[in-house]
Parts: sequence; structure tokens; C-alpha cells
Amino acid sequence: MKKTLVGAGLSFVLLCSPFQQSFAAETTGELRQVDTVAHRGAAGYAPENTLAAFDKAVEMKSDYIEIDVQQSKDGELVIIHDTTVDRTTDGSGKVGDLTFEQLRTLDAGSWMGKQFAGEKLPTFDEILDRYHGKTGILIEIKAPELYPGIEERVAAELKERNLDLPQNEKIIIQSFNFESMKKMNKLLPKVPIGVLTASKDNTSLQKLQEFAEYADYFNPHYSIVTEELVDNVHTLGMKISSWTVRSQKTADFLLNMDVDAIITDYPDYVDPRK
Ligand code: G3P
Ligand code: CA
Repeated sequence: MKKTLVGAGLSFVLLCSPFQQSFAAETTGELRQVDTVAHRGAAGYAPENTLAAFDKAVEMKSDYIEIDVQQSKDGELVIIHDTTVDRTTDGSGKVGDLTFEQLRTLDAGSWMGKQFAGEKLPTFDEILDRYHGKTGILIEIKAPELYPGIEERVAAELKERNLDLPQNEKIIIQSFNFESMKKMNKLLPKVPIGVLTASKDNTSLQKLQEFAEYADYFNPHYSIVTEELVDNVHTLGMKISSWTVRSQKTADFLLNMDVDAIITDYPDYVDPRK
């Protein structure tokens, strides 16, 4: 196991097992695991939210992949970040206005390079079947307000595979939509829930206490992470996963902040052996 020890500006590596994971050390010398979450797959190296990006993340031994789940016009759960297909495919229009057949014909890889031509929008069930057991899956429900009933559909797919049970704890569900996450917690009480935010207003003790009633993770943008925030989140019994690392400097900052997981386009910035 690789352990990255971070303290007083000093990092070093220990090799002890086949699993490579980063550890942050507090001044007490205590080691704590830092999970590496490959954002939209290893999105720095392959087109986001495609099998190429998720396969790359697994190849890089990421602890989790992060996926963005939305819904087609005819109710299929698909993996894409933006609420339109314009930026990351050769098509145009809103995800929710296109049928699954229309979405599936799109090229979701060429925008990043010819070598990725032909990558398709994956489906949610495809991701669960292909990656569960190989890596953890951080499921973001993207813009659930656009897709009434998406929480029930996500819950059904997980239950069908027994992925809602405690022994399958490497499944986490998160969203910027807090009402959706309250609902998700009721639907799947044993699955860890995360709230996403980039707003400092959501870091007050009162807000954190509200989140702790239904969430297990408080997942902020790195720009609002402070030592005090990390301590408060931990005191309330939650974990903290921060996003999105696109530079070594940001990775080093978050490692020093003692967060529990780092969500990154570049898994190797968090752990150079990834
Ligand atoms: O997992 C955190 C991150 O994905 C949230 O932002 O916009 O990349 O979905 P975004
Ligand atoms: Ca996301």
C-alpha cells in the first residue's frame, strides 16, 4: 500500500500492499486514508463520462470513479455532465429532449481527440455492471429538478443489484440539489449520501448540522475548504470530499487540509503512482 504522508511540507512514500492509496497525516502523526476519486472518469486523460475515461481511472487504480447521471426523454438513465449534449458530443440539444436512441448515436469522444472517436454516452446500468467490484462509484445526480422521479429510478437500479446494502459501501450518491438528497436518503437509508456546494454560505455550523441529519459527506469546491471547515465536518460525523483537482498545487493543498477524498481529473496528482 502506498501511503503519501503529508505534513510540514514533507511528503514521502511507503510501499506495503498491492493497493495504492494516499494518506494524510496530521501533526499527531496519525495516518488517515485519502481516497482518490477520478472525476467524470480520469477526465484529464480521456473524454469525460465515457467508458474510455472510466477504464483509464480503473487502470490508474483510482479508489472511485465519479459519474453524472441524467435522464433521456424516454426515461433511460444516461451518463453525461452538461444538461445539453453540445459541448461533449457531435450533437446538439437538451439531454432530456432526446430519446435514448438519439443519445446513443452521438459521438462523445471525438471532441477530445480522434483516438476517442466512437465513444458513446454510457448508461447507468452499464456503469454499475462494468465497474462495481473493480472500483467505488460516486454517483452524482445531475440537475434532478429536470427529471422528476430520477431518484426512484437510480434507487431501483441499485436495489436490483443489491448495491444498496451496507457491504457495498463503495457506492455514494451526491448532488447539488439538497432536497433530492433528502429523498435519496429516505429511499436508500443504507447508502452514503453527499451534498455538493461551492457556496461559503453553506459552510456555517448551522447549515452543516442540517446536512448531517441526512448526509454522510459534505463535498465542497476546494476554494471554500479551510482547516476549520474540515474539523467541523468531522466533528459532526461526516466525511469531506473536495473537487475538482486540475493542478498539482490544488492536490497538495487538499492533501494538507486533511480531507477524506479528493475528486480529480488527474488521479496521479493525488497519488503519483496512480
Ligand atoms: O464530484 C464533484 C463534482 O463533480 C461537482 O461538479 O460540475 O463537475 O459535476 P461538476
Ligand atoms: Ca459531477
